[in-house]
Amino acid sequence: SSWKLVENSKFPKGKIVAVVVLDGWGEADPDEFNCIHLAETPTMDSLKKGAPEKWRLLKAHGTAVGLPTDDDMGNSEVGHNALGAGRIYAQGAKLVDMALASGKIYEGEGFKYIKECFDNGTLHLIGLLSDGGVHSRFDQLQMFLKGACVHGAKRIRVHIITDGRDCLDGTSVGFVEMLENDLAKLREKGVDARIASGGGRMYVTMDRYENDWGVVKRGWDAHVLGEAPHKFRSAIEAVKKLREDPKANDQYLPPFVIVDESGKPVGPIMDGDAVVTFNFRADRMVMIAKALEYENFDKFERVRFPKIHYAGMLQYDGELKLPSHYLVSPPEIERTSGEYLVHNSIRTFACSETVKFGHVTFFWNGNRSGYFNPNMEEYFEIPSDTGITFNAQPKMKALEIAEKARDVILSRKFHQVRVNLANGDMVGHTGDIKATIVGCKAVDEAVKIVLDAIDQVGGIYLVTADHGNAEDMVKRDKSGKPLLDKNGNVQLLTSHTLHPVPVAIGGPGLRRGVRFREDLRNASLANVAATVMNLHGFDAPSDYEPTLIEVVDSN
Ligand code: 3PG
Ligand code: CO
Repeated sequence: SSWKLVENSKFPKGKIVAVVVLDGWGEADPDEFNCIHLAETPTMDSLKKGAPEKWRLLKAHGTAVGLPTDDDMGNSEVGHNALGAGRIYAQGAKLVDMALASGKIYEGEGFKYIKECFDNGTLHLIGLLSDGGVHSRFDQLQMFLKGACVHGAKRIRVHIITDGRDCLDGTSVGFVEMLENDLAKLREKGVDARIASGGGRMYVTMDRYENDWGVVKRGWDAHVLGEAPHKFRSAIEAVKKLREDPKANDQYLPPFVIVDESGKPVGPIMDGDAVVTFNFRADRMVMIAKALEYENFDKFERVRFPKIHYAGMLQYDGELKLPSHYLVSPPEIERTSGEYLVHNSIRTFACSETVKFGHVTFFWNGNRSGYFNPNMEEYFEIPSDTGITFNAQPKMKALEIAEKARDVILSRKFHQVRVNLANGDMVGHTGDIKATIVGCKAVDEAVKIVLDAIDQVGGIYLVTADHGNAEDMVKRDKSGKPLLDKNGNVQLLTSHTLHPVPVAIGGPGLRRGVRFREDLRNASLANVAATVMNLHGFDAPSDYEPTLIEVVDSN
């Protein structure tokens, strides 16, 4: 296929285009749990006044973005994949569902590889214990456990990462109980199956984008070495006891190991064992995958590097081919808009802070790390604060990202300047309403800085979001009423939402008469890529989802 894009004479070439992604910024009815409504957001408010020509909503969840069902909330992987690739792919969650349902998962190369260890070794499963459907799904773990036993696994150890971020805080207890039930049933069938270690997802194992290798080391010590500050005889006891600390929550549970009556860990990872990381989503598995797979590794002292057969649920990084063995093939996201644009002389700058850096680069480019062409692109990372939860620092690096984008825009060295502003999502995930309001205000101020710069260079902006979060901070019943817990407090929603997200266009470089089409009522994030290609003066490839915009000539 040719990389050359057809020029579209209706859209001038060579304009500087700012693409701004507000992470976790959905559109919902205004009420006291809508932090975007509660925050002062004059810039985003003024964009909204441009509706319907210059502002509209896009679907950002469910089947519209490649998730298994319309009950699936949006997430950043799926969202940025769609934004960057311009097409809708069956995503990891769905591909794993299909492979489990058909049984194909047990016929593939990855399963055969781990199976080689079943006669003499233990099968270890490491992953997020959650029904959030963002990184993993509990029912998939349940099915895989059963299937692995049918296919010969005799000794299984599960290393559980508790969630409370893609599902309600406190749900870890119920998941552990359900898992223990399943494992008891396997034991009745003669399989030696137990939980061996665990910890909370934000503190153990699941760091991303190399924000803090200490997180991964804590997981390594617990899962692989069988060492942790907290030792318990059972996982239920572990989770319940650790949650007794009033400051504890599922996301940040400290690492623990399960020990036998003599105090020995029940399931360290040893030579000859098989390991599966059962998350389908990539970003928070890449670091632990490197530790499990790479012979040469210097990010922390592994102490012991067991000779194992390791497979990911999916291959997490297409460029690094990491891990080299996997159970289900990832979606083949190819010919992304970023790759096309560098082939068509569009110089691209992408920037975010660490915790979202891979979102506007790796996810945007179809789960591919690195540059397409380093002469045409620059990816700039602003270090995130570490060692805090983001409600303590809710402004995060929004200002720094915006100032960087402003400087790059004013330098006129790049045609596309793409940023992700993290606050709505990262602060929203803490469930702290006050802090999230501060975060949303900071985002709005950052957007203004970028838009002002675009004004100065006669450029164009497109502002959108990847999924909802900050616009709804409470768990609701079917009728929309906030749900209360047993003490009568509202149940704070730390997760993403099912809401649509805004998209707005404008700027002095936008030709007169450009407006959002009215015939694409069901448009999703996947329609953005073709739109951005238009703003750069090109038509999108014909298999891309259609552009959101048209030119109406007024005489
Ligand atoms: C996380 O990984 O932080 C959450 O599970 C999902 O958030 P994101 O999709 O916005 O990154
Ligand atoms: Co999020």
